[in-house]
Amino acid sequence: MNPQPLTASVIGCGTGGRLSLEALSASPHFRIVAATDLRPEVRASLEQEFSGLRTFGSHQDMLAHCPTDVVCVSTYAPSHESIVLDAIELPSLRGILVEKPLADIAIAGRRILSAIKSRRLPMVVPHGLRTRATALQVIERVLHGEIGELRSIEIQCDKWDLLNAGIHWLDFCLAATGESPIVTVLAACDTSTRTYRDGMQVETVAVTYVENVSGVRMIVQTGDVISVNTPGKKTLFRLVGTAGIIEFWGWENGYSILNTQYPAGQTIVPQEFPVFGHRRHLEILAEQIRSGTPDYRLPESSQTALEICEAAFLSWQHRCQVRFPLASFVPPSPSDWQPGKAYSGVGGGRDGRKLA
Ligand SMILES: NC(=O)c1ccc[n+]([C@@H]2O[C@H](COP(=O)([O-])OP(=O)(O)OC[C@H]3O[C@@H](n4cnc5c(N)ncnc54)[C@H](O)[C@@H]3O)[C@@H](O)[C@H]2O)c1
Repeated sequence: MNPQPLTASVIGCGTGGRLSLEALSASPHFRIVAATDLRPEVRASLEQEFSGLRTFGSHQDMLAHCPTDVVCVSTYAPSHESIVLDAIELPSLRGILVEKPLADIAIAGRRILSAIKSRRLPMVVPHGLRTRATALQVIERVLHGEIGELRSIEIQCDKWDLLNAGIHWLDFCLAATGESPIVTVLAACDTSTRTYRDGMQVETVAVTYVENVSGVRMIVQTGDVISVNTPGKKTLFRLVGTAGIIEFWGWENGYSILNTQYPAGQTIVPQEFPVFGHRRHLEILAEQIRSGTPDYRLPESSQTALEICEAAFLSWQHRCQVRFPLASFVPPSPSDWQPGKAYSGVGGGRDGRKLA
């Protein structure tokens, strides 16, 4: 016999919130009962679309008048912390979905995680690649050494920024490297167009260079106009190992592999899972609730991905390489040193021909 469905609500019902609403209404494990959005026109259309749904203009009202077993927080990143802290006060709450990026700043993401963990509440962050056949098969092949020792992951991502899409890609990199700790992050950003996206100021173009403890390089090129060097693709992942290469293209199903098993290269299109994306994450949440065993590996990886994003922005802001752990980062004093300018012979510095 199927267990009683868990009651659920969603806060923030734009693109991300709708992915949760649709997933909850399609899944037999949930009954969607309430939603909050600041915009009256959004509430009106939700009431038409999801029969019996109660809507609210403030999350405090919704939590007070319509408490649920599960809450999905899908507003913009800067409001996640205050909303999550309100939601976890709810005695009825048994599990929570928090959208990526967990927060706008890493320390707020860490506070969200600590508060949720201290209640031992099951939690998911819906990084879609973690539920897709292609990405999971690529991770498995890499972790099983099918392209030898992984040396680098190059990502090219057109029309999206590091914090909003790159964070999915960084979470994938962490999974494909067995969550090996990050050592340094170095980044450069062009901000000339003052682009904003999903409630955040973002880069026009940026390159983020991440190195982990095993020496794997993750090189992420993001921004408004990136020319992806496999024709016809908008997003590209290229994983290079000592004995092969795998390439895949973000959300697209399929990948190419060149290794000892496929010396001439092969395109493989795996069968997609019947349930993926937000619904898969929410059903994993339901399993964790029912078994009473929260698993924080994915939220922790998402937090590390957020820390890499923040480290990239700090690197650009302070013109320095950022060493992990991020919590110990202290910005260097401002420097007038200009690579490419003639060295006058005075003014201190370090003789680069006499490095130990
Ligand atoms: N995991 C994914 O695949 C995925 C996909 C899309 C968006 N997202 C994430 O979802 C979040 C929202 O982005 P979006 O694309 O849905 O933006 P959006 O602009 O489409 O929608 C945001 C909605 O939240 C509402 N809102 C804002 N503050 C609110 C508050 N305090 N209380 C109630 N409602 C509030 C707005 O009125 C709006 O309808 C972001 O963190 C984004 O990164 C994730």
